[in-house]
Amino acid sequence: MKKLIVLNGSPRKSGTISRLLETLISLVNDNYEIEVIRVCDLNMQFCRGCMACRQSGHCVLPEDDAHVIGEKIRQADVLIIGTPTYWGNMSGPLKVLLDRNVFILMGENKNGFPIPRQKGKKAIIVTACTTPWPFNFILAESRGAIRALKEILHYGGYKIIGKIVKPNTKKHSEINFYLKKKIERLNAKL
Ligand SMILES: Cc1cc2nc3c(=O)[nH]c(=O)nc-3n(C[C@H](O)[C@H](O)[C@H](O)COP(=O)(O)O)c2cc1C
Repeated sequence: MKKLIVLNGSPRKSGTISRLLETLISLVNDNYEIEVIRVCDLNMQFCRGCMACRQSGHCVLPEDDAHVIGEKIRQADVLIIGTPTYWGNMSGPLKVLLDRNVFILMGENKNGFPIPRQKGKKAIIVTACTTPWPFNFILAESRGAIRALKEILHYGGYKIIGKIVKPNTKKHSEINFYLKKKIERLNAKL
């Protein structure tokens, strides 16, 4: 059975991202074993920036949840990352988790060029923000969060098979018919 891991970067259990991810997961086919990680509940230290992991392939910090989840990311066939847009970016806890796991996602050759460590695996990005369409893309709101996640997934070697974007969540928090259809189409690519 293939493994699918979902990183939920929202602190809100019934918020938009949690509901979008639940809808997405409910439609995933039976070939996948699914695990959802609530990133805001993890116990983890910040990355110290020592760069030792680039050579050793291991984080020097004392064992915490970032190590555990990194191993799960390494073993997963598909990665779904959901985050509310915070300051035109991903949420802080999600960024901490991904900073801590650079070495799971990419290595470096002897000339310092990046080596993708999860090459060819599929990924999906899910994000939501209060800014209404099209301003969520004209301004760097959804666009900023997507760009930041794309950067990470790109260096990891992932193939991004789609994005789910929900703007204007203050006025319209419901997952409407069109969004559900998009989620269905995306699931068909898994
Ligand atoms: C700290 C913080 C920063 C935010 N920054 C933005 C932003 O830059 N642009 C935006 O449109 N919405 C921003 N928002 C609003 C959230 O993206 C929005 O409420 C989203 O729907 C939350 O998703 P959730 O319900 O899954 O937590 C911010 C919210 C918080 C708490």
